[in-house]
Amino acid sequence: MQLVPEYKADVPRVERFNFVSRFTHWGHTVTFLLCLFTGLVLFFDGVDWLAAVFGGYIGAGIIHRISAVLMTIVIGIFVLFNFKVLINWIKDILRFGMNDIGFLLKFPLEFLGFHVNIPPQTKFNGGEKGNSIVTPTMVILLVLSGYIMWFPTIFPKWLVIVAYPTHDIAMVLATCMVCMHGYLGSFHPGSGESFWGMWKGTVREEWAKHHHATWYEETYGQKDDEQKEA
Ligand code: HEM
Ligand code: HEM
Repeated sequence: MQLVPEYKADVPRVERFNFVSRFTHWGHTVTFLLCLFTGLVLFFDGVDWLAAVFGGYIGAGIIHRISAVLMTIVIGIFVLFNFKVLINWIKDILRFGMNDIGFLLKFPLEFLGFHVNIPPQTKFNGGEKGNSIVTPTMVILLVLSGYIMWFPTIFPKWLVIVAYPTHDIAMVLATCMVCMHGYLGSFHPGSGESFWGMWKGTVREEWAKHHHATWYEETYGQKDDEQKEA
């Protein structure tokens, strides 16, 4: 398996994600994973070796709640300080069209590492648009059901009963999505360059032209035209 593609500083690069997006993305990744592993300790209730990592079952419960609060704060920071980015993200998801369907049809080959010519994509490709809907929805369900389970006395009884299976189902779906997403956003040979967009903020211009042609044209096309005229 190839590791994350080498970061090339000596080739033209374009900005993909601002600091707040990057800070909050890695913030919710760390807190999500902490919630996941401590949550699994609470879920299985017989995994002493995993519980030991978090100081036992009580420790896991405490770390789960601390990570949950930190994750909520990180999501709040994204919404508050990146509101325009959030609106543009939603607008991009709503642009789902034929080119996204074309991407999804070719995606299995791309996923397996074959080089495919994908139709021009906007800032987020068809798969990322799907991920942008499913994963955040599951995280919102985890947050809501989590606080209901945490403070059961202030919510109606039926809501507390519903919260438990909701938390478990959302955990399973979010984890499946994150496994695939984490691979695509790092080790995957074709799309691994996107890792640098989320880590350092920029991606190779050539990669952006191939993977997100519509986004590149709309965001940086003018720069290209000016260079041609000069
Ligand atoms: C704001 C976010 C969250 C809050 C407030 C929250 C809260 C809680 C609470 C109060 C419990 C019950 C703990 C106990 O029985 O001692 C719980 C259990 C659990 N949580 Fe979370 N949680 C959150 C996010 C997450 C996330 C992101 C995951 C995984 C991706 C997760 C996975 C689990 C699992 C698997 C359980 C065990 C459920 C069971 O026993 O049926 N939680 N959570
Ligand atoms: C496990 C390690 C992870 C890696 C390596 C990773 C990597 C990335 C990368 C590189 C991007 C930018 C993709 C682009 O250029 O458009 C991204 C976007 C995103 N990430 Fe992650 N991520 C991880 C974990 C998570 C987690 C835990 C969540 C949420 C629970 C998450 C949610 C998202 C969402 C919603 C987007 C925007 C939509 C998309 O690009 O699919 N990520 N991630």
